[in-house]
Parts: sequence; structure tokens; C-alpha cells
Amino acid sequence: MPKKKRELIASVKGMHDILPDDALYWEKVRRVVFSVADFYGFGYLETPILESSDLFTITSGESSEIVTKQMYSFRTRGGDNVTLRPEGTAPAARAYLEHGFSSLPQPVKIFYWGPIFRHESPQQGRYREHHQFGFEMLGIDEALADAEVVQIAFAVLKDLGMKNLIAQVNTIGDAESRGEYRKALKDYFRPYLKKMCDDCKERYKVNPLRILDCKEESCQEFISRAPQTIDYISEDAKEHFKRFLEFLDESQIPYLLNPYLVRGLDYYTRTVFEIVSEDPEADKGTLIGGGRYDGLIKLLGGKPTPAVGFGAGVERIIAEMKRLKVRIGGRPASRVFLVQLGELAKKKGLAMLEEFRKADIQVVEALSRHSIRSQMKIADKIGAKLALILGQKEALAGEIIIRDMTSGAQETVPMTKAMNEIKRRLKT
Ligand code: HAM
Repeated sequence: MPKKKRELIASVKGMHDILPDDALYWEKVRRVVFSVADFYGFGYLETPILESSDLFTITSGESSEIVTKQMYSFRTRGGDNVTLRPEGTAPAARAYLEHGFSSLPQPVKIFYWGPIFRHESPQQGRYREHHQFGFEMLGIDEALADAEVVQIAFAVLKDLGMKNLIAQVNTIGDAESRGEYRKALKDYFRPYLKKMCDDCKERYKVNPLRILDCKEESCQEFISRAPQTIDYISEDAKEHFKRFLEFLDESQIPYLLNPYLVRGLDYYTRTVFEIVSEDPEADKGTLIGGGRYDGLIKLLGGKPTPAVGFGAGVERIIAEMKRLKVRIGGRPASRVFLVQLGELAKKKGLAMLEEFRKADIQVVEALSRHSIRSQMKIADKIGAKLALILGQKEALAGEIIIRDMTSGAQETVPMTKAMNEIKRRLKT
């Protein structure tokens, strides 16, 4: 019987490889993030990708989409319930408590970078594995901190060449005022429920605030006239929001009040914000989302600790950089090509590569090409200034031929002097 050809195994739905051509974008974003973090005094924190499932069910909220639909959870062989992290704030808060950061001078400023897993329906800009970097400031109540994290978010995006950005901002008040607002929303939406989408009918029962986040066309008309959070929050929370906006004005950060911005996680209190591009051609997805989460550390068993931060989607940022044709600069083109002919030359050539690396000279070679013609063609194609030719004869004599690719002039030099001669020629 003919053997059946094995079907190729593809990557898991909604998860993607990062290919070498894209790596330059990834490096650029990472470089900018680390440099902005360094300037603003944020320390790098890396938490494990797997956490106890409880960490997220307790903090994101039992009714949040993350907990109800999106977590990759499983039971380990040892019987623990664990989850691939669906967001970065709860792990940062867990680490803050676990390592006694509350006894350090406050605020504690940390930032992170890594993969995030959410079982969503994959589409443009929405993946089941995506990457986030996040900045968190823990142990500070001041509205200035809220403005500083928004400023940091803008600094990163601007350094990455982004334009026409706007922060949508809102305040959702404290946990205490949430009950009253929730009731007002229930009273308001009750008569319209029949005409609203099925998800909203469910949200109405579990958490009516989530209705405000609905993107269905049929629900927008009702949402646009719903009660606004600002009318239900404490004087204290209002004052905090006012100060936040004043700081944004002072830093000339473009923002838009969006009274229906609530965000999808339960831990938020007071300030919430999302940064998007205002360009009509840009993807509609949010680039950066964040806000205050004053109750989170207490929820995890710590003492009340106000905190604020944001998370940014790296894939979405890179897509926007590409759309804007942001120049990222490549690696400097290699100016030296190593031609190797015969077994001995290949052996010597391999050892030489390390010498080049130590001397910081970038060299390209074509291991699988055997004829001098095909190797020289590549040297030409990459625009090399020099070709180094190492044949059987040269390898035996401990020599190498240096060819100037522009003039075609060749010179045979002893291997011991080759490195200095190459450096001299590259300088001219
Ligand atoms: P989030 O809004 O759920 O917030 O996610 C932050 C960012 O991650 C989004 O603005 C978006 O750019 C990106 N993102 C989210 N889901 C996906 C996806 N499925 N595919 C691609 N990109 C995605 C949080 O996770 C909070 N922990 C942010 C935070 C930090 N709040 C306070 N501190």
C-alpha cells in the first residue's frame, strides 16, 4: 500500500510565528520600551506565563469575558488549576505582594513584556496569543501618577513614529458608587432589552456595565443615551478625575472624554483610558488600554494599595508602524563576503568567522555554494566592498586573497595580516 503523506502541522489557530523579517520591528519596539522605562525609573519584572487560575478569576471578575470565555486553563499532573496568563496586571500585583514590595518606598514602578493568551475569535488585530508590554505604578493615589502613565504611553508610541493619537478617558468611580450606577443602568436598559443583542441580555443579568462596551450596531442607539458614570461617583472621585485632566492639559496630551468607556476587567476604579489612532485608515483596535485599580492588591490579600498602569498590544503597534511606513533602519549591510573553495578552506573559513566576529566585522558567506562564480554573484548582489577568497591553495599556504569588488583588483596576503588589512580597506 502506498504510504500516506503526513499532513503538515500548522501553528495553533490564532497564534503566529514572528519571522526574521519582522524581528526588526520587534527589536525596535522593545528598545524604545526599555529606554522609556529606564528614563522614567521603571524596573523590569518578568513573571511566569503560567499562574494559578484563582489569580485571574478573583481579579478580572467572574463575569468578565476573560474569565467566562477566554482563559486557557488546565489541571496539572499534580492537580493544580493553572492558566496561561490572559493579562499582565494581576501577575504584577501578585509579585508585588509575594516579594514584599509594599515595604519599599512607594510608588513601586515596574514594567513587563511578554506573551498573553486569550481564547478569542481570531481576526485582524485580535489573536489568541499576543504580546503586551505594560507599565504599572503601585502604591500611589495621586492623579499625577495617572497622567504620568498616559504620558509614558504616548512617549513610547511617539518614539515609534506614531501620529494622530488620542486618549479616550473616563472615570468609573470607586467600587462603593458602582452599585448605584449599576442599578441606574439596569433601570434604564430594562425597557430596551428585547431589541438588544443576546450578549447584552446576558450582560444585563451579570454586569450591566459591560453593555456599554458592546460593539453591536443594534445596541448603540440605546447605549448612546444611557446614564453616565460621572453622575454617580463621589465628590472625591470627581476631584481626582478633574486633576487628572488638568495634568493632561498641562502635558498637552490629546484626549477625548468618553463617558461610556468602562473597560472589560473588573479591577478598574476611577480613571480608565484607551489610546487609539484617529486616522480613518487605521485599524479600529485599541493600541493601549489602562487605568487605576485601587482595589486589586487588597483583593489579593494585601493592604489597600492604590495603583495605576496600562497594557499595550505589540502586534497592533507593529501593524500601525507598518501602515505608517515607519522607517526602522536595518542592520548595516555586510561589506565583506567570504568565498570558500574546497574542504580545507571551509574548515579554515569556519575558524576565521569567529575572528571576524571578535573584530566586529560583519561577514557573509554562502555555505552551500560550491563554485567561485556562484559565490561571487552573491557578493555582488549584497553590494560587498570586499570579497575574501579562500581556496585550497591559499588555505594550505596560510594566505587569503582580498578582492576589491569595485575595481576588481586582487591581492594575496598572509592570513596573519589579513584582519588588519581588511580593517584598513573598510575604513577608506
Ligand atoms: P487590555 O485592554 O485587555 O488591558 O489589553 C491591553 C492591550 O493589549 C489592548 O489595548 C490591545 O492593544 C492588546 N490586546 C488585547 N487583546 C488582544 C488580542 N486578542 N490580540 C491582540 N492584541 C490584544 C489589559 O490587559 C490590562 N492588564 C491593562 C492594564 C495594565 N491596566 C492597568 N494596567
